[in-house]
Amino acid sequence: MEKRELLYSGKAKSVYSTDDPDLMVLEFRNDTSAFDGKKVEQLDRKGMVNNKFNAFIMTRLAEAGIPTHFETLLSDTESLVKRLDMIPLECVVRNVSAGSLCRRLGVDEGVELDPPTFELFLKNDALGDPMVNEYHARSFGWAEESHLNRMKELTFQVNQVLKAMFDQGGLMLVDYKLEFGLYKGEVVLGDEFSPDGCRLWDKETREKLDKDRFRQGLGNVVEGYEEVGRRIGVQF
Ligand code: TMP
Ligand code: ASP
Repeated sequence: MEKRELLYSGKAKSVYSTDDPDLMVLEFRNDTSAFDGKKVEQLDRKGMVNNKFNAFIMTRLAEAGIPTHFETLLSDTESLVKRLDMIPLECVVRNVSAGSLCRRLGVDEGVELDPPTFELFLKNDALGDPMVNEYHARSFGWAEESHLNRMKELTFQVNQVLKAMFDQGGLMLVDYKLEFGLYKGEVVLGDEFSPDGCRLWDKETREKLDKDRFRQGLGNVVEGYEEVGRRIGVQF
């Protein structure tokens, strides 16, 4: 499938139309950004690593019955996906406290959360992706109630599948962010799942192997992503 027109360029991916109006090409770039675009760098191989990592995870999720937009890998840095009508919300599940939760609530990093928490954020860089609740989403028309319920259900199903998968690789799935869209009226998982949008720690040493390496200037960012991939069986 040939890519045609550039439809949208985000902080780490570009989206192209194809000759099929229901399909798009996602291009994973090496650009790496954090703090709502305030810190940006090019990291060698990151586009390839995230493209292949995402393909692997989306395939596992589809096998577990979760509807995803992923169709097929096209090249090292490109994947073919269904064209979704995106819902402008980020669904975050946390199994362990970290990141903004610790800043917001004054809790220590690394506390196990039982049950895991669920949070919604509005996708809006200018506002710093503020946390919102389901009433905001419904009142402002970002998502309707039945779609919110389905997004929450799917986000927790993803937790079951991926927590077990990472655990087998000696990794803790601390938290992650998912985005959904509508495809022919159905809620479908979109965007990507990669170490750019989740936290993964080594179970024994609690070494961070995700984008916190970039946010916190720890170095070896892509090496961390590759280590995670290697442990769960991604072929780079
Ligand atoms: P947070 O601790 O910054 O709220 O993030 C929680 C998790 O969700 C973390 O794994 C990073 C991911 N995330 C994104 O990838 N993009 C976002 O815009 C947000 C709000 C979170
Ligand atoms: N939404 C945030 C950003 O893109 C997430 C992060 O810090 O990685 O900057």
